[in-house]
Amino acid sequence: MSVILNDKNIMKINSILLKNFRNYNNLNIKFNNNLNIIIGNNAQGKTNIIEAIYFLSITKPIILSNEKNIIMKNKNVAFLKANISYLNYDNSLAINLSTNNKKLYINNREIKKHSEYIGKLKVVLFTPDSLNIIKDSPNIRRRFLNIDISQLNEKYINILNEFNVVLRQRNEYLKHIKNEKVSCNFAYLDVLNEKFINLSLTIYDYRKNFIRNLNYYINNIFYDISGYNNLVLEYKTNISFAENEDRYNIFLEKLEKNYQREVFYGTTLYGPHRDDFDFVLSDNNLLLYGSQGQKKMAILALKLAELNVFKDNCGEYPILLLDDLFSELDIEKRNKIISYLNQDIQTIITITDLNNIDKSFIENANLYEIKNGTIVGCITNYGRISEINE
Ligand SMILES: Nc1ncnc2c1ncn2[C@@H]1O[C@H](COP(=O)(O)OP(=O)(O)O)[C@@H](O)[C@H]1O
Ligand SMILES: [Mg+2]
Repeated sequence: MSVILNDKNIMKINSILLKNFRNYNNLNIKFNNNLNIIIGNNAQGKTNIIEAIYFLSITKPIILSNEKNIIMKNKNVAFLKANISYLNYDNSLAINLSTNNKKLYINNREIKKHSEYIGKLKVVLFTPDSLNIIKDSPNIRRRFLNIDISQLNEKYINILNEFNVVLRQRNEYLKHIKNEKVSCNFAYLDVLNEKFINLSLTIYDYRKNFIRNLNYYINNIFYDISGYNNLVLEYKTNISFAENEDRYNIFLEKLEKNYQREVFYGTTLYGPHRDDFDFVLSDNNLLLYGSQGQKKMAILALKLAELNVFKDNCGEYPILLLDDLFSELDIEKRNKIISYLNQDIQTIITITDLNNIDKSFIENANLYEIKNGTIVGCITNYGRISEINE
């Protein structure tokens, strides 16, 4: 019987295997439980390793539109596998991706429902592009909410899928009335409305709750790393409900009142598909009034707040993926962030060089040097140096 030393209630990714994933023809890499550093020059494949772990977790690439580029050029199928452990159980997750098909596996058994797969390997991702959560259009922020809430609640994905089906049906019907100039079958619209409202209210609740949980942490962290106080995330729905109101009927009234407008636009104008949230610093919208530095710190505070929210929700920290973090920060800020990376958080970080990196930071880390899609050197936390030939 094997005894696992130092095992705590944390989720860990023990190793990954990649075949024909981006610039990796065949990669097998083992991680330690705490800090793993991937080092290499530009365009060698550092971000691709981060993305592989992200893909194994979320089943989507970091940038949604890039899915067709996941498979190695001139190959037809990519395969990714992770060995993970949680609560002393070892499990494997795998994805087989071909140009027109994606299959998910847990312990070598194919999983048809995404909701059964997502959340098995929980991750929080920071990349230099994470700043887009503040800067880009609301759909980026909704994607952020959906990904995190899906990782935390198995039911949420199903609700979101059902919602999207009803939304599509409702939009098609409104467009049909507009284009064909037919009169509305209100009995049919009522059925759609009832489903639509109930699913919308459930989604609002999940999102409101998640944002409230982030707000419990974000300001203290932001103050600690930036010195500025009073950062809050403000959730914005395009229907407002006062306390204790009958939300169902308010929603229904809104839809009924705006029926002509919805037909005019041929689309559903109210609901969670139009949700957004703002980063507000001392009553000012950070997007409009914040400096570049403040925005960056707000995103880092958000990421660190996520770690805590995951831990509170499921008793375990997610795996923290930090892509190019240090190129973004001065030494003082680096050290602040490092102070948040505690022993219980398995972290995978990419860097281009070890200049200005504190020795104590890398002391216990595994270091992997990447060149052109292969590991050319590896230092484990036992101080062993090995060449890896796959
Ligand atoms: N589908 C693919 N097939 C082959 N190579 C790819 C594919 N997608 C990306 N790459 C290559 O991966 C490299 C970039 O890897 P990346 O992980 O972003 O590098 P970095 O080390 O700078 O983070 C580039 O050389 C790019 O051409
Ligand atoms: Mg990169």
